[in-house]
Order: sequence, then C-alpha cells, then structure tokens
Amino acid sequence: MKLKNLACAAACLLFCLPGVAQQQNKFTPKPAVLAIIKKDLAVADAQYKVLAGKLNAEEFPKTYHPETGKQENSGSGWWCSGFYPGTLLNLYEEIPGKFLIDEADRMLALLAKEQYNTHTHDLGFMMYCSFGTANRLNPTPQYKQILINSAKSLSTRFNPKVGAIKSWDSKPSDFLVIIDNMMNLELLFWATRVTGDSSYYKIAVTHANTTIKNHYRPDYSSYHVINYNPETGAVQEKKTAQGFANESAWARGQVWGLYGFTVMYRETGDKKYLDQANNIAKFILDNPNLPADKIPYWDFNAPNIPNALRDASAGAIMASALLELCKYTNKADGRRYFNTAESVIKTLSSSHYRAAIGTNGGFILKHSVGHFPAGTEIDVPLTYADYYFVEAMKRYKVFARK
Ligand code: GLY
Repeated sequence: MKLKNLACAAACLLFCLPGVAQQQNKFTPKPAVLAIIKKDLAVADAQYKVLAGKLNAEEFPKTYHPETGKQENSGSGWWCSGFYPGTLLNLYEEIPGKFLIDEADRMLALLAKEQYNTHTHDLGFMMYCSFGTANRLNPTPQYKQILINSAKSLSTRFNPKVGAIKSWDSKPSDFLVIIDNMMNLELLFWATRVTGDSSYYKIAVTHANTTIKNHYRPDYSSYHVINYNPETGAVQEKKTAQGFANESAWARGQVWGLYGFTVMYRETGDKKYLDQANNIAKFILDNPNLPADKIPYWDFNAPNIPNALRDASAGAIMASALLELCKYTNKADGRRYFNTAESVIKTLSSSHYRAAIGTNGGFILKHSVGHFPAGTEIDVPLTYADYYFVEAMKRYKVFARK
C-alpha cells in the first residue's frame, strides 16, 4: 500500500467510525417487474437519443412543455446540469453503446468548469451525480480532481456559527438553508474518503445535525427553508419557497430528506440517522394524503387533493431512497419499503407516466412539478425525475444478484 493510501485509511479510521451501515436485508425482485425495467431502460436509451437531438452546442436539458411543444434548456450553472450526464452514464452501464458514452463525455466537458462554482450549494447534484458516476465507472485522476475541487467549493459555503452550508445567496443578514441541501453531502463523504481530509466529513455531519434540529417538525415532516442569523446561528424564520405554505409538507422536500438521511446512515453508521430516515419514511408512507399508487401530490397539504397534481420526481426519488433504506432497517419495515418502491416503479412505468419513444421532448417521465408557487415547471418532465427513476430501477435490479 502506498504511503498516501495508508494516510487515507488512517484518516478514515479516525474520522469515519463507526464506519458504514451494517445490516443488509435481502428481498426477492419479481420477474415481471424485472421485465418491465428491462423495457423501461431500452425506452430510456431510445428517448435520450431524441433528447440529445434537442440540444444546441452548449445546452443542458431542463424541461419540455407538452401543451406548446416548447423545449427548455439551460447552461451548466443550472442546479440540474449533472442529471443528464449522470443518467446517460447510468444507462450506459446497463446498455453499453457509443451514443451514450460519447454524449456523456461531451456533457462532462461542458460541466467541468462548475467545479469552481462557489455560488451554489447544488454541487453535489451537479458534480457527484455526473462526475461521481463517471469516476465510479472509470476512475481517472482528472475526475477525482474535479470532484475534490467541487467538494472544496461546496465547503466554502459552510458557516460554523450556523453549523450548516448556505443554500441560497441572499441579503447579508440572511443565511438560507433548504432541506434539498441534504443531497449535496454525499460528495463531502466521498472527498474525505479519497483525500483523508476529515473537514469534509465534519461539515456533512454538522450540517445534518443542524438540519435534524431545525428543519424537522415533531411529526418528522420538514420545513423547506430555514433562515438563520449568520452571526449568531439563531433561527430567524421557518418557511417555504416551493411548497404550498410555510407549514405544509412539500413533497419533494420530504423525499430529499428521506434520501439524504439514508445516505447519512450509509456513510457514518450512526443509528441516529437511520432513525431519522425511518421516521421520515413513516411520515410519508402513513400519510393519509399519499395516494394508493404511491406517487405523491406535489405537496402533502396541497389545497385541492385529490385533484392536486402529482409529482413524479418525488415518487422516483422516494423509490430510490427506499430501495437503499430497506437494506438497513428491520425486516418488516424493509419489506414495506421494498414493496412501496416496487409499486412506484410499476406506476411510473405505465403509459400515464412513462413517455412513448419520440414524445415528451425526449424525456423519460411525464408529470413532475418543479416550482408550483412560481408558476414554473408545472406538470412537465424534469431531468431529476428521469435520473432517480433510472437509479431506482438499477437499485431494484441489484436485489436480483445472488
Ligand atoms: N430546489 C430543488 C428542487 O426543486 O427540488
């Protein structure tokens, strides 16, 4: 073992104990669902060829408006820029082919400059879903350096007084943290593992602990936005930006938390995070406003339930998170999570949600809600719905391996 590797191993022993999540339940996937997934992945491969054809030279896909047929694309600085290359790579792992890898490489080259972006907390989404996947499939010193630089950029937004990473830049007297930020912590754990620098790990743990303390209500639903005093760390406001109301449970926020605390348990082995993830899962799954097909309304307290819009992205993120959490928890809860995820995959594979080849602007899923209060991205396809749907299907398939 090289000296540098020894140093990394020692640092992990010191800072990453008790280590990683231990319990690994096993569940048996259904052949019929595996057959659906095989078809879905083939359709996704075909759809992403259509999507690629809608992009000008430096554009990343954002959404598509079914009523007008208008395609909306973005630059690399948009928080979703990592999902398209990440999905291409995840599909490539399933269906290796020249188009998928060439298109992924083209997008990664456009995205690389964001490693130095210190004006967003979304670097985990942007860089870990893309370069993290690229590095998992084909580790290179270049990918590694880009990911380390991204973790450094993200860490510049940590305020020790608040004990959290700043999500959104705003006026100097505000320090805004959104629940979505839990999803950016995985990049920091990776950075400590490969560099041996424990500061990333400590930031992630501190951010998660502050989030448990201030974002969560007694019923384990989450606020969307907490506004802290940046000088004292005191909570100034608890509110929403993308949800129906300050006191409502915005669906995607609930599933970002579910996924984020599952990762926290995986990376630290600390049972406190497993309990948090299980309690969030119970809030969601026992919620009288969760429809029978398990695709959440865009907000659990949307005013016009049962006629409120569904959010397919929340369903996909929830399914992927539950397919990890089901491995760690007790067998009965694990079985419930696995069955729920299976049901979500089946529902999202129906023609109501999964687009036919050549339609939907080339996106895989229909019917997500981006930002209802702002009147943007309502009942449309979104790159992150596709990303987590593909990830959930891959996670389900892993259970078939002996
Ligand atoms: N801000 C990320 C989201 O819309 O979920």
